[in-house]
Amino acid sequence: MKSPRNKTIDLTAEEGAEYLARCVRADTPVTPAQAANRVILGDTFRVMPNLPRAFADLMIADPPYNLDKDFSGRKFTKMTDEEYLVYTEAWLSQALPLLKPEASVYVCCDWRSSMIVGPVLEKHLRVRNRITWQREKGRGAAGNWKNGMEDIWFATNSSRYIFNLDAVKIRRKVVAPYRAGGKPKDWEQTKEGNFRITCPSNFWDDISVPYWSMAENTAHPTQKPEKLVAKLILASSNPGGMVFDPFLGSGTTAVTAKKLGRCFCGVEINERCCVWAQKRLEMAETDKAIQGYADGVFWERNSAPRRQA
Ligand SMILES: C[S@@+](CC[C@H](N)C(=O)[O-])C[C@H]1O[C@@H](n2cnc3c(N)ncnc32)[C@H](O)[C@@H]1O
Repeated sequence: MKSPRNKTIDLTAEEGAEYLARCVRADTPVTPAQAANRVILGDTFRVMPNLPRAFADLMIADPPYNLDKDFSGRKFTKMTDEEYLVYTEAWLSQALPLLKPEASVYVCCDWRSSMIVGPVLEKHLRVRNRITWQREKGRGAAGNWKNGMEDIWFATNSSRYIFNLDAVKIRRKVVAPYRAGGKPKDWEQTKEGNFRITCPSNFWDDISVPYWSMAENTAHPTQKPEKLVAKLILASSNPGGMVFDPFLGSGTTAVTAKKLGRCFCGVEINERCCVWAQKRLEMAETDKAIQGYADGVFWERNSAPRRQA
């Protein structure tokens, strides 16, 4: 029995079949219109050759990190570093022709896979930054530091790219409210306290991993928070743009793109994950809220009012 406050998305087998039927396959080449706003069920290595060339404005890739991991019934087995390098080259070289010349790319990693992914990206793209996400949650280790962060590489296809700085500003509490001429300097006084709207850095400590009381939560073992993906989408695409995800998982990229008025296309090999993605896309028809993002700004961890995005 789930507690009434537990919002984790759960489906019966019958419901699952209905959602799975909404996914498409791409066993033969598809047009941009056929790829738009679709969850494609299949192996990304077989699907990507059938996707349209130069159709994506933004790619967000969250591949399996090089760890033994059970993705809801389908296992990823840790490779040697050399094998993971070949694997990364293989999926990236299939993804690159799908990008528009002015496209941006984000790739998620843990600290170890990051050492392999970064140089591969550098070889093919213009690497612009490495975001560090302080995830908080992580398994303790007796003989090592707990792993509490992830990397997100930011790269672009060329020197021309979208970066909407104003769309990703952060609302932070002011610790030392400085006044000039008796007036707040770069901050505002509200009933809730004193706040400053600031530019985001490449260190993100304002985002929690999805957990059971959040409407976006599923049982996917490595689900990314919508708040994190929202920052990437808002900064690096415009409304109506196409966001592509070759490892869609529980659908976070697709759902967040939909909530923010972008088009999406995601590929996922696991049927259970595809079901979660479709269920979340259905929920996004009526609920466009993204936890931690309200009034056009990102709020510090656990401080945002819950409103429609
Ligand atoms: C790290 S997870 C992505 C999680 C996702 N960002 C989310 O928020 O749910 C990687 C996903 O890639 C999927 N995957 C692994 N190999 C794949 C392949 N060859 N083709 C398509 N999907 C694959 C796994 O099933 C898993 O769901």
